[in-house]
Amino acid sequence: MIYDAIILGAGGAGLLAAATAGQAGARVLVLDHAAEAGKKILISGGGRCNFTNMGIAPQCFLSENAHFVKSALKRYTQWDFLALVEAHGIAWHEKTLGQLFCDGSARQIVDMLKEECRRGGVEIRLSTQIGEIGHRDGGFTVGRDTAPNLVVATGGPSIPKMGATGRAYAIAEQFGLTVVPPRPALVPLTLGGEERLFKEISGIACPVVARAKDVSFEEAALFTHKGLSGPAILQISSYWSPGETIALSVLADAAEKLRAAKRKMPRAHLKAALAEHLPNRLAEALAARIGVTAELGALPDRTLDETAETLTRLTFRPTGTEGYAKAEVTAGGIDTAALSSKTMEARTVPGLYAVGEAVDVTGWLGGYNFQWAWSSGVAAGRAI
Ligand code: FDA
Repeated sequence: MIYDAIILGAGGAGLLAAATAGQAGARVLVLDHAAEAGKKILISGGGRCNFTNMGIAPQCFLSENAHFVKSALKRYTQWDFLALVEAHGIAWHEKTLGQLFCDGSARQIVDMLKEECRRGGVEIRLSTQIGEIGHRDGGFTVGRDTAPNLVVATGGPSIPKMGATGRAYAIAEQFGLTVVPPRPALVPLTLGGEERLFKEISGIACPVVARAKDVSFEEAALFTHKGLSGPAILQISSYWSPGETIALSVLADAAEKLRAAKRKMPRAHLKAALAEHLPNRLAEALAARIGVTAELGALPDRTLDETAETLTRLTFRPTGTEGYAKAEVTAGGIDTAALSSKTMEARTVPGLYAVGEAVDVTGWLGGYNFQWAWSSGVAAGRAI
């Protein structure tokens, strides 16, 4: 059949692009190999979908071109998406740090997107393999269907067991678009042998300030049997490169707290001072790592200050990440240099668009990635 647009991928970006184009009068076909649309939306935010963030700003996104996101985020904002959510009567709440979640279930967001597609007369064809893509005389052919516009919305390879693939990169290659090497992001980090101590306290979480390069995040970290996880670590993982270190500050105002402990309990050891503020087993692991064995009362203030410094800059050299199997998103992807920031259309291939996670744009944890899916999807949908 002949359509105005074929959209590859029925995730958040593809569905909103389809609804936007369809409601503007375009005949739209969405193809997906999954049996269900919006599968990642359904599992997102612990089943409640953290669908956007009140603090959306360009600096909360990673890309080779930091300016690329600005236009799409401005043309379709978090408030625009929230208005859509409200128009569908979906109750929502702010959980923390500007993160907006459904009160009920993530399925409400998928149902909303499907309803928007229905209103736009969009045809969604699931359980369909995308075979070869033909391109002739300004038209794209997928199977027996053709259209002058093709939107690549197949996401990135994170969580392959949910049907995620790197197909977007193969399509980019077919059409001569460069790809920024993809890598797992928002992903737990693994630690090697010399950090064993911390593996032994797996399951313990504590608030930290995590740092990599010149970026820091103040959230919880979780020690796991493989290494480090929790929101602060997931955030910092997007900025971490193999071979680099990350630093954790596990105790705010550590110097004052240690000096106070020395006054209050001079016969106690470092572990007891730390246990006043941190989980017991973490206090024990930290005291062992720092290796200060004398009673607090016998420690010169200089030693206390050095210990405090260590506690505010605990350095780890991760051996790697837990990979795409555990990565919430994929960083890298179709090079933004190849795309118009206003429409997401490929500069060298008229009618070819790329949106969502397939593109070299990665948001912070907390609703930023969905907002990118919505904003970039709408940008393409409006341009078709
Ligand atoms: P998405 O991956 O959603 O959709 C791509 C579609 O293409 C899929 O339907 C897939 O089946 C299809 N596809 C892929 N390859 C194909 C092929 N070869 N042939 C045919 N179809 C193909 N973000 C956020 O902002 N808030 C949150 O709460 C969460 N929570 C969260 C939890 C978990 C566990 C994960 C894994 C991820 C999140 N995210 C998130 C990230 C968020 O899910 C992600 O950024 C968006 O889903 C990206 O939307 P896209 O539409 O670009 O890709």
